[in-house]
Amino acid sequence: MRKKITVVGAGNVGASCALWLAQRGLADIVLVDAPIAKTAPVGKALDLLQAGPIVGYNARITGTAEGSYDGTENSDVIVITAGFPRKPGMSREDLVGANQAIISDVLSKALPRSPNAYLIVVTNPLDSMTYLAYKLSGLPKHRVMGQAGILDSARMAAFIAMELNVSIENVQTVVLGGHGDEMVPLTRYSTVFGRPITEWLPPERVNAIVERTRKGGGEIVNLLGTSAYYAPGAAAAKMAEAIIMDSKLIVPASAYLEGEYGYKDLCFGVPVKLGAGGVEQIIEFPLTDEERAMADKSVKLIRETMAALKF
Ligand code: NAI
Ligand code: 2OP
Repeated sequence: MRKKITVVGAGNVGASCALWLAQRGLADIVLVDAPIAKTAPVGKALDLLQAGPIVGYNARITGTAEGSYDGTENSDVIVITAGFPRKPGMSREDLVGANQAIISDVLSKALPRSPNAYLIVVTNPLDSMTYLAYKLSGLPKHRVMGQAGILDSARMAAFIAMELNVSIENVQTVVLGGHGDEMVPLTRYSTVFGRPITEWLPPERVNAIVERTRKGGGEIVNLLGTSAYYAPGAAAAKMAEAIIMDSKLIVPASAYLEGEYGYKDLCFGVPVKLGAGGVEQIIEFPLTDEERAMADKSVKLIRETMAALKF
């Protein structure tokens, strides 16, 4: 049977995600937005569909009008990109008030139609919105996850490839922690051709790359006037692909923790194995004292943001 992925929020990230998904030919795609978007998701879906004959993809892409969820029934994966993006001067955490109502609205409409779906949350502040989706949905923890670490690791990899003038294919990076400026780039696990970047670059260049990675979202907001969407859309699509294809792909993602890494009752960016069972495993790395201190700082920021959540 054909698989179905619903993308809620047909804005910048949602539409980019739908395009990446269509190109992978994984599933039929349904685009949904709020009533205020009127018929825009129908138009975007038609536009994406008409790129198929040019690019050579075969996905069935539809959009719904006036905020309807009709047609999303029995989705295998629901990608939630609905919500306000940040503008220059805003942090991701500033979005918690406005976006929690949107997550709640989306879940109340999407889940009754697709009770077996896996949820991939993209809406910011990411770790708090993933936690909210986990709590409100009542789904088991392996079915709710947040996208951040693939994007943050990709940003770090891009900066390293630029710095060393090497192919992006030679670079592997690991960024854990919350999707905020206190994220946790792990330099000793980040390699170029298997060799840690700390052996390729002097400490000041490594530190500069770490800092640029942490502020990578803000850098684009300041340049663009809104937040990034091509790479975030691709990252969410990669997670959906791993679930649909049962890839057993290890990626960093926000997952609900029950003691892993010493943290409980929050969603936090950790290495997970993604497959047909969603988050099939949380992989624990030993952390140095320095890494632990960074992770603790990141958890503190998430908990402060979570304090604004209303259930
Ligand atoms: P956007 O403004 O282009 O699109 C958001 C869409 O959500 C809009 O079309 C809006 O009408 C829709 N929406 C609002 N309320 C809704 C509701 N109740 N039901 C359905 N749709 C609704 O924003 P963009 O750039 O696509 O960003 C979306 C979210 O993703 C933001 O919260 C942003 O901060 C976050 N983001 C997260 C990233 C990550 O790595 N986790 C990276 C980039 C963005
Ligand atoms: C990003 O990192 C703003 O979360 C968004 O681009």
